[in-house]
Amino acid sequence: VVDIRKLYGQADIFTYDPGFTSTASCESTITFIDGDKGELLHRGYPIDQLAEKSHFLEVCYLLLYGELPSAEQLEDFEGRVTKHTMLHEQMQYFFRGFRRDAHPMATMVGVVGAMSAFYHDSTDIADPWQREVASIRLIAKMPTIAAWAYKYSIGQPFVYPRNDLDYAANFLHMCFAVPAETYEVNPIVARAMDRIFTLHADHEQNASTSTVRLASSSGANPFACIAAGIACLWGPAHGGANQAALEMLREIGSPNRIPEFIERAKDKNDPFRLMGFGHRVYKNFDPRAKVMKQSADEVLDLLGIENNPTLQVAKQLEEIAVKDDYFIEKKLYPNVDFYSGIILDAIGFPTSMFTPIFAVARTVGWISQWKEMIADPAMKIGRPRQLYVGATRRDYVDVEDR
Ligand code: ACO
Repeated sequence: VVDIRKLYGQADIFTYDPGFTSTASCESTITFIDGDKGELLHRGYPIDQLAEKSHFLEVCYLLLYGELPSAEQLEDFEGRVTKHTMLHEQMQYFFRGFRRDAHPMATMVGVVGAMSAFYHDSTDIADPWQREVASIRLIAKMPTIAAWAYKYSIGQPFVYPRNDLDYAANFLHMCFAVPAETYEVNPIVARAMDRIFTLHADHEQNASTSTVRLASSSGANPFACIAAGIACLWGPAHGGANQAALEMLREIGSPNRIPEFIERAKDKNDPFRLMGFGHRVYKNFDPRAKVMKQSADEVLDLLGIENNPTLQVAKQLEEIAVKDDYFIEKKLYPNVDFYSGIILDAIGFPTSMFTPIFAVARTVGWISQWKEMIADPAMKIGRPRQLYVGATRRDYVDVEDR
């Protein structure tokens, strides 16, 4: 704690907490994490129970409205989301304005931000009904946006949503169907996709969620705020970690090279880190990683690639690292991204789609946190302070005298 009265002579006290490691930015009733126990609860329900017994849209309802829905409420909610899966037809031209080799995350930041230019009737944050419509629109359209960003990047025609499919199956359809061929969504693959969405739905005040809250604290419209969240998620220390983890596992290539990479991760003179290991909050196993590991086994078994070399490297790396003193002492365990990349790769997604898929899933978390914040009468514009360490007052020097 720094007493700035001593520094600046102002009547105020603030904390200096780089990275906000011990500063709560808000009160929230949505998600609870016990990092030491490795526990994650949404509205009180453990994530492993939700991943096992529930499905993504039901978890969306829980996060948004605070309770599990009745059968009737769920049907109504699913119907509302399904109704909004189409994108405004003119938005196609927006996609076509990007270079073909644009990263799908770049396209998503642009397209989601541009939604505020297409859906004027849901940008007034003072109107609860408009907030509700914006929420449903974002959850419903995000898979279409991610799938179209992917289709555009590989030069294939856009595939329209199929409203007879569930959320995850429809996403797979939009990504993998080609007009000239029949595409059947495998229900086990769709279930694995749904689980990936469920496990990434919310994670309290992480960097992208805090970005959404900070952006919306100024009163900005929800589409602009969610675009800010997507931009933040793109970073390799956050949503980009699943891509980085799979690339690392491929680079390791075979189990006999694991010790070399472990040594590099421990070497303070080498910037290399074991991607998919460590977490700001979990100082124990990430509970989502356990479910993800089981899902990876199921999907690879189904696809007949249970001997996948990347999965073998992943399993052995995990076994070796969790027994290593360095990782034990620093409490570094596999996080959710360690196994999700293997599943997405097996399903057929290129690594560039891993973070967009995370963004599709996290949209509901961002929106739930945004709705909670807007509805709070105590809401204030976010305005962090700083500890100024620059030059003291000095007079301007004319350029010819410098
Ligand atoms: N490999 C090797 N060493 C590590 C790793 C790692 N993956 N992660 C942390 N460390 C070490 C650091 O070097 C540091 O050592 P020091 O105390 O000797 O300086 C110590 O552990 C603490 O690390 P910090 O970076 O200070 O911890 P922080 O809580 O800020 O970082 C983070 C958490 C960013 C996730 C970090 O563990 C990391 O970079 N992991 C790899 C990237 C990754 O998997 N990110 C996904 C996060 S989960 C998500 O976004 C869904």
